[in-house]
Amino acid sequence: MRFAGVLSIHNWSSINSRFINIVSGYSRPHNHSLPPSRFLRTCNTVAIPTADATSSNSDRKAIRESTESNQKMENGPPQSQSQQELINLNPDVNKMQLLVRSDHSGGWEKCWEQDVTPWDLGQPTPVIVHLHQTGALPKGRTMVPGCGSGYDVVAMACPERYVVGVDLSDKAIKKAIELSSSLPNADYFTFLKEDFFTWHSTELFDLIFDYTFFCAIDPGMRSAWASRMESLLKPDGELITLMFPISDHDGGPPYKVSIADYEEVLHPLGFKAVSIVDNDLAIGARKGREKLGRWKRLITQSPL
Ligand SMILES: C[S@@+](CC[C@H](N)C(=O)[O-])C[C@H]1O[C@@H](n2cnc3c(N)ncnc32)[C@H](O)[C@@H]1O
Repeated sequence: MRFAGVLSIHNWSSINSRFINIVSGYSRPHNHSLPPSRFLRTCNTVAIPTADATSSNSDRKAIRESTESNQKMENGPPQSQSQQELINLNPDVNKMQLLVRSDHSGGWEKCWEQDVTPWDLGQPTPVIVHLHQTGALPKGRTMVPGCGSGYDVVAMACPERYVVGVDLSDKAIKKAIELSSSLPNADYFTFLKEDFFTWHSTELFDLIFDYTFFCAIDPGMRSAWASRMESLLKPDGELITLMFPISDHDGGPPYKVSIADYEEVLHPLGFKAVSIVDNDLAIGARKGREKLGRWKRLITQSPL
């Protein structure tokens, strides 16, 4: 058994399910804002064991197998039971998968054009609102890859934190701008229509927040995702990953994720988890399938 180190464990009160009407973990709740008082928490500090080397290796084998099988998939792959259940509950997930696979570069644009966006919560992610409101997020330049409608970009933006939302889809960026341009904090964020994998940013970031982007890209792109994180973050910058969906379904998007999936691509680049906790503020059916990971690079100092 190895230990990730001393981690902060946050036991947040759950949001009130009366406000939420969810039919799947990748579907849209009613758009009600949640008052900050719902995010009260207690905080303990304990040592958390991570997966041992054996389970980590088997996870990695599973990832390789899953990646190979996903790469072979074309339209309409065989679905596992949990995948099929997800689709039965929310037919938009199936439509989204077919659209994304139908055109490798333009599939996301088609989803936005046809309003097939089952991932869109219609509100900021509660845990990011909570971290922002409690002063638990780094300040400085921040980036949200695959930002979609931009709710999280807007939620984190403030005079001390300038946030850049990046999305491949023209329609998504237009929607994000339309939703947010008249907000009082509009001077503290911007939206760019760019491909995360090829975009040349003139400045590095203090914080990058990834939610439902890692699980949206083909698993074969995960190493490239990690390299981009490394090249876009300042050496002492922080990467926050809200890991979802932690499950065992086949296919995607959303592709299943595990802590080991992130470790596999981030560890070789020197990133280590500062903390990994269950997200008790996950919405509806996403509950129990999300973990919040905070990663930093270990900077090796020259002795000279
Ligand atoms: C599953 S959605 C998540 C959107 C948003 N993070 C949310 O939680 O609502 C994935 C988003 O990533 C965008 N996307 C996909 N590939 C991208 C790429 N290479 N660069 C930038 N954005 C990309 C899609 O257009 C889509 O808006």
